[in-house]
Amino acid sequence: MEDITEKMKGFVSATKEKTTSAITSVTGDKKNRNLESSRIDDAQPGHYITTQFGTRINHTDDSLKVGERGPTLLEDFHFREKITHFDHERIPERAVHARGAAAHGYFELDESLAKYTKAGVLTETSRKTPVFVRFSTVLGSKGSADTVRDVRGFAVRFYTDEGNWDLVGNNMPVFFIQDAIKFPDIIHAGKPEPHNELPQAQTAHDNFWDFISLTPEASHMIMWALSDRAIPRSYRMMQGFGVHSFILVNESGEKHFVKFHWTPTLGAHSLVWDEAQKLGGQDPDFHRRDLWEAIDNGFYPEWKFGVQIFTEEEAEGWDFDILDSTKIIPEELVPVKYIGKMVLNRNPDNYFSETEQVAYCVVCFPMLILK
Ligand code: HEM
Repeated sequence: MEDITEKMKGFVSATKEKTTSAITSVTGDKKNRNLESSRIDDAQPGHYITTQFGTRINHTDDSLKVGERGPTLLEDFHFREKITHFDHERIPERAVHARGAAAHGYFELDESLAKYTKAGVLTETSRKTPVFVRFSTVLGSKGSADTVRDVRGFAVRFYTDEGNWDLVGNNMPVFFIQDAIKFPDIIHAGKPEPHNELPQAQTAHDNFWDFISLTPEASHMIMWALSDRAIPRSYRMMQGFGVHSFILVNESGEKHFVKFHWTPTLGAHSLVWDEAQKLGGQDPDFHRRDLWEAIDNGFYPEWKFGVQIFTEEEAEGWDFDILDSTKIIPEELVPVKYIGKMVLNRNPDNYFSETEQVAYCVVCFPMLILK
């Protein structure tokens, strides 16, 4: 027993060391300094558990009872608080992107975009901006398998000096629909059938194909989703796309359109259908585990950050609408220019409070990017 306790102590201290060194390596990381006051090491002398009001608790394993066998007394406020907390420790899972895994890291800019924007995160090459990135499938519930045939999300929060910038994207460069009003319909069509709640995290069912057969604009995205490229080998080997065309505004108020790209330095690799199905059975956490273990072992995943920048006048000359999310901007027309990189080097301390509760939002952008 003693031996196991010693081993556990060693494991805990090694993990702490790794975490601390990853945190320290993000020099000037204001986000981390800001969180430091909330990180409490319960193992340290002088630390003890309290009720939610701060009253010290020295015994948490027995409730207050009338006599040896009860009944339990309602005046045991710690007991009631503990049970109430437990009863409420679930939040409803996300309607889409419920199944996720995330990591902390940083973003560095190699080349300034000052010609196009006044946003410091994209103009100051001396900055190291902390990021938190959440990867997810779209349709499956929280407990579904990682290797299902689905689109993957790739949401990045930049903790910039001016405020949070959330860049939400997918691992495929286009989307199913042209008009946002159809989003609830495609998601309801892809989710399990209403009468029997089948199947989980699969688009291979009638509701979905009814929807697709009636939605010609989905054809492009369906080609990506059903292709051999669709299921990533690892989150570390997955491309990311902002999908939408955004606008950058520079100091003189001039506007340019931009598409955002993330390209993994390990290259983009996929699983074939047979591998994906077998892995789904053998290890439903395949992607989540791969990301966690890579970071834990110091193989920090990296992405190059690219932009396609063009003017409204150029866009007017093209025979497709650049605000149509079912179309790409061909790289023959606008090559991707790589201007920075993102590295993920630290696993979360707590899945629920970080990965589950992070709330990315499309309206989060420092006022300097879009104005
Ligand atoms: C009208 C169209 C859309 C609607 C209504 C919509 C709605 C949502 C909702 C409700 C969530 C869950 C948010 C939460 O509970 O935390 C979500 C998450 C997400 N969406 Fe969309 N979405 C749309 C289009 C898109 C598109 C086009 C993309 C790709 C560019 C995208 C990428 C994502 C990603 C990556 C997440 C996960 C964020 C996270 O990890 O928390 N969505 N979306």
